[in-house]
Amino acid sequence: MSTSISTSTKPFLRALAGETLTPPPFWLMRQAGRYLPEYRATRTEAGSFLDLCYNPALATEVTLQPLRRYGFDAAILFSDILVIPDALGQQVAFREGEGPVLTPIRSAMDLDGLDLSGLHDHLAPVYNTVSNLSKAIPAATALIGFAGAPWTVATYMIEGSGSKDFAKAKGMMFGQPELFGRLMALLTQATGDYLIRQIDSGAEAIQIFDTWAGALPEDQFDRWVIGPTRQLVERIRAERPGIPVIGFPRQAGYLYKRYVAETKVSGVSLDPSVPLDWAAAELQPHCTVQGNLDPLLLVAGGEALDSGIDRVLRVLGKGPFIFNLGHGIVPPTPPDNVARLAERVKGWRG
Ligand code: CP3
Repeated sequence: MSTSISTSTKPFLRALAGETLTPPPFWLMRQAGRYLPEYRATRTEAGSFLDLCYNPALATEVTLQPLRRYGFDAAILFSDILVIPDALGQQVAFREGEGPVLTPIRSAMDLDGLDLSGLHDHLAPVYNTVSNLSKAIPAATALIGFAGAPWTVATYMIEGSGSKDFAKAKGMMFGQPELFGRLMALLTQATGDYLIRQIDSGAEAIQIFDTWAGALPEDQFDRWVIGPTRQLVERIRAERPGIPVIGFPRQAGYLYKRYVAETKVSGVSLDPSVPLDWAAAELQPHCTVQGNLDPLLLVAGGEALDSGIDRVLRVLGKGPFIFNLGHGIVPPTPPDNVARLAERVKGWRG
C-alpha cells in the first residue's frame, strides 16, 4: 500500500493515495470522443484528428465536454499517444475509418531520422492544453496527463499502423535487438521528458497506457513493459515527488502482479479479463486498482449494465479503488447509458 497520505481534497487523488472511498471516484477511458455529438462537432471544426490534438482551445473544449454531462472525478488531457512519434519526426496521420498510419521505422537509417531536439516545441500546444485545463476544471476534479508506454508506441512506429500479431515489431525485438533497444531508449527518454512537462503545466496524476502489453512473453514483458515503465515511475518520483502514476498493462493476465510489484505504480488499471476476486486479493493490497467494466456493457445498457457495475463495485469497492472501464468507450455507446452509469456509481453506498 502507498504510504503517502494525500492532503488533497480531490477524491480521485485521495483514492490514489490509498484511501477507500464510498462511493469511489470515477472517470472513463476515452470519455471524450466520437460517442458524443458535441465531440463530433468540435472535431469537424478542427479539421484532422491531429489538428484537434494540437489546438489548445479545442482540445480543452473536448476534454471538458464529458465533465459537463457526467461530473467525472477526473479529466484526462485530450491528446493521443502517437504525438510522441510525430514530435520525434516520424510521419503520422490518422485516416478516417482506418486508424493511424505512420511511415514505418525498420532500419538504423529510419531511426537516425528521429530525434529529441524538437520535442518540446512540437508538443507546446499540448502543454498549453494542460495549463488551460488546470484553470478550467471544477475544484474537486483532478487532471490526468498521459502517454503511451514505450512498447505500445513502438508497435505503431515499427508496424506503421495497428497490428494483430505485431510481426514486424517482434521481428525487430527478436531479430535486431540492438536497433530495437535504441528505439526503446529514445522513446523512454522522450516519454519521460513529455510527462515531466505535463506535470509542470498542471497535470496532477499520470496514466501510462500499455495497450499491447499482453502480446509479450514473460521475459520480453519483464524487459520491455516492466523495465521502461519502472524507469518512468522512478524518474517522476525523483523529479516530481507526490505525483501518482497509474499503469495500464492491458491483457497482462497473471503478470499484472509482477508489474505492480516491480514498477511501483500508485495505481493499476485492469482490463475486463482480470478476475475481480483475484485483483482484490493479489493487487489491491499493493496499490489502488482502477477498472474494469467491459466497454460493451456500456453499449448494451439496461439490466446487464447495472449488474455489471454492481459486481465491480461490490468486489473492488472495499479497498482503494477508482471506477472505470477496462478499456476505452467505443463510438456506438449511447450517451444516456453513460449517464445511467454515472448515476449508479455516484449513488453507491457499499
Ligand atoms: O481518454 C481520453 O478521453 C483522452 C484521449 C485519448 C485518445 N487516445 C483520443 C483519441 C487517449 C488517452 C488515447 C490513447 C490511445 N491512443 C491509446 C491507448 C489507449 C487505448 O485506447 O488502447 C492508443 C492505442 C491510441 C492510438 C490510437 N488513437 C488509435 C489506434 C486510434 C484509432 C482508433 C479509433 O478509435 O479511431 C486513435 C484515434 C483517437 N484517439 C480518437 C480519439 C478520440 C478517435 C479519432 C477521431 O476522433 O477521429
